[in-house]
This record gives sequence, C-alpha cells and structure tokens, in this order.
Amino acid sequence: MKTEAAERINVEKIREDFPILKRKVNGKPLVYFDNAATSQTPQQVIDCIVDYYQNYNANIHRGVHALSQEATEAYEKARITVQKHFNAKESKEIIFTSGTTHSINLVASGFEEFLSDSDEVLVSGLEHHSNIVPWQMLCEKTGAKLKVLPMTEQGDLNMSQFEVMLNENTKLVMVNHVSNALGTINPIEEIIQKAHEVGAKVLVDGAQATPHIKPDVQALDVDFYTCSAHKICGPTGIGMLYGKRDLLEALPPYQGGGEMIDQVSFEKTTYAGLPNKFEAGTPNICGGIAFGRALDYMNNIGFEKIQAYEQELLEYATDRLNEFENVIIYGTTTDKKTAVISFNFEGLHPYDVGTLADKMGIALRTGHHCAQPIMDFFKIPGTIRASFCFYNTKAEIDLMIEALQKANTMLL
Ligand code: ALA
Repeated sequence: MKTEAAERINVEKIREDFPILKRKVNGKPLVYFDNAATSQTPQQVIDCIVDYYQNYNANIHRGVHALSQEATEAYEKARITVQKHFNAKESKEIIFTSGTTHSINLVASGFEEFLSDSDEVLVSGLEHHSNIVPWQMLCEKTGAKLKVLPMTEQGDLNMSQFEVMLNENTKLVMVNHVSNALGTINPIEEIIQKAHEVGAKVLVDGAQATPHIKPDVQALDVDFYTCSAHKICGPTGIGMLYGKRDLLEALPPYQGGGEMIDQVSFEKTTYAGLPNKFEAGTPNICGGIAFGRALDYMNNIGFEKIQAYEQELLEYATDRLNEFENVIIYGTTTDKKTAVISFNFEGLHPYDVGTLADKMGIALRTGHHCAQPIMDFFKIPGTIRASFCFYNTKAEIDLMIEALQKANTMLL
C-alpha cells in the first residue's frame, strides 16, 4: 500500500529520472543507500552537462565572443539560483568553491590574520574531519586554543556545556547542520544566537543538511554556510560558500591568480570585489551551471515533500532494523535526524557486513565516515551506514534487511 507521503512525492516517476537506478550490481538490482557520500544524478542534470559541452563550452568573464557570453550568463544565473535557494541577500555572497572542504579551508585560512594566542575556536564534537582539521591547522599557526563541544551517548551535542564553554575569547564556532556519521540535526539556531551574544562568528557545514533541508541563511543569521553540489543531485567538484558580505570583504583572498584581481603590476596588485576575489583561475563553469540545475530539480519536487517522505523511510528502516536482536543503532531518535542510520551488529565487523551486502547489490558505507572522534567516543572502529534519498523505496529497505539477515546467518 502506498503511503500519503509516497503518493505526494511520486517515487516511481522520480526514479525514471535516474538512469543509474536501473543498473545491476553483482547480478542484482542496485539498491543505493550511500546517498550521504554522494547522491545520484538525474537525467535533467546530465542533460545540462552534455548541453554545456555540446553547445556553449567557453571560458567565462573573458571573451567578447558569443560562446563566452552565453557561458558567463549561465554561470552567473546559476549563482542567482543558489542565492535564492539559500535566501542570501546578494548573489555576491555566494562563492563557488570545489565543495564544502574547499569552503571551510577558505574561511579558516582567511582568519589566520585575525586570531592570536588569546583567542579560542570552538568546534562541535560531531564534526566531519573537514570541519576539524582546517581549524586545528589554524590554531597551530595562530596559537589560538581549539575547544571541543562534547557529544552525548544519544549522538546529540551537549548543549548545557555550550554556554559554559563560550566566553569573550571565543572568536569562532563551527558546527555541522547535520552529522554525516549519525544524521543528528543540530540546534544551529540556538548555537548561532548564543555564539553571537559573545561576539563569535559561526560557520555551519551544511553538506549533509542541504539534501534534506532548505536553509534560510538570513533567518538563521549564520555568518558562513557551506555545501557540496554532489550531495544534492549535482556533479562533484563544485559547491559553495555563503558568507555575510562584510565578513567576506574583510577576509583576504584564499588563492592568487587570474579573475580575482583588479589591477596587477610588479609593484602592487589590487583585488577584485566579491565574489571574484575568492574565485581565482578558471572556475568549474559546467559544474556551477549544473549545480543550479540540480537545485531547480530538487525545488521542483519540493523540500517539504522530500522531508516527509524521507522521514517515512527512516522510521520504516529503523523499525525493520530493530527486528534484529543484535543490532546497535547509534544516534538520536528519529525526530531529530535526517534519513541516515548508523548501526552495527554485535559480533560482526561493519566491513564484513558491508562487503556481503554489496554482493547482494546493496550499497552501504562502512567505516569511520571521516568522523573518527565520533567512533572513538563510541569505542568502535566504525559503523554500517544506510543513508536514504527521496528516490529510495520501502521495497529497497526490505531488500537491505534480507541481505543483512543473510549476512548475520553467514557471519555469526
Ligand atoms: N562526507 C561523505 C560521507 O559522509 C563522504 O560519506
């Protein structure tokens, strides 16, 4: 029987847009549950990429010729699509980057000249390595102190500690909107508000939230927000950094080169304004255009429908997994999670389970998910992670459960 949310979202029709979902893996129909690592690409985005290379591939902002102008127009139109999606005040506040890691490194590197050894940088304990290591590097260079907001057994942030840790020396607070390893939705509104009370700036890593949630950067009053297009039905190698205009203007350029300059002489170079100041070199033009197309695709479905449907998948998969006596699920209860489940089976190594599932066509991610501190907290080497997208179905979850039953029988 189809559910209300499933009818609203028309999954069967949506699945037609994703050619890869028709393929077989190890002789079995592909069940793709590694969406938190990368989502699949709809035909509309693939067509957009092909159209670019077939019809108007050219360098942008440089040529008077027709192709260059068409490419420039499409790239800048995509920037406006991104701006509108995130409700940034101006398109200048959207910097195209190669993805979240690049975005975070850009900001961390920019803060080098603003921090000293009396400053503190607060990072949440639920972060991906890409929102830990750049800040460690920044602290090593500046002498600033790195503090870690602890997590709880439920996979939440320990918010009662947050206020205690904040003080007038806290200059930066970093948190992901959603944990990639556990799916926890963090209370970023509260974090931003409290951090601002002590004058700290907040960077939110939105890589895992943006496939499920449509953030409003002005309503959040967030200082920096990042995402990667490949997790939102776009291509790899493109993402964005949102920053409040005054902050982006104050930060120094990240890389030098063409495009980011105003005037160059051997005596002195002056820099271009936003966003070009942060986009040195030939950008990922096709990627930017396809990123815009991917956001259009998702908005045409609608994020409310996506969320409602994915929540159903999450609850169904959680119930089915709980049928196993030896399952351990890590993370919060389903009302504070996106459609991600991290779990293990007592007595089984996650890697062995993932390998056997793959033999049955089920794509799961196993390991530490680039979040080793979370695994250390739970004292485990890693987890098995199933992460769902709006094109997945309950029938696919049943196939995963069958595969996991077989893995349990074979490995225990
Ligand atoms: N950060 C991505 C993940 O969680 C790659 O799988």
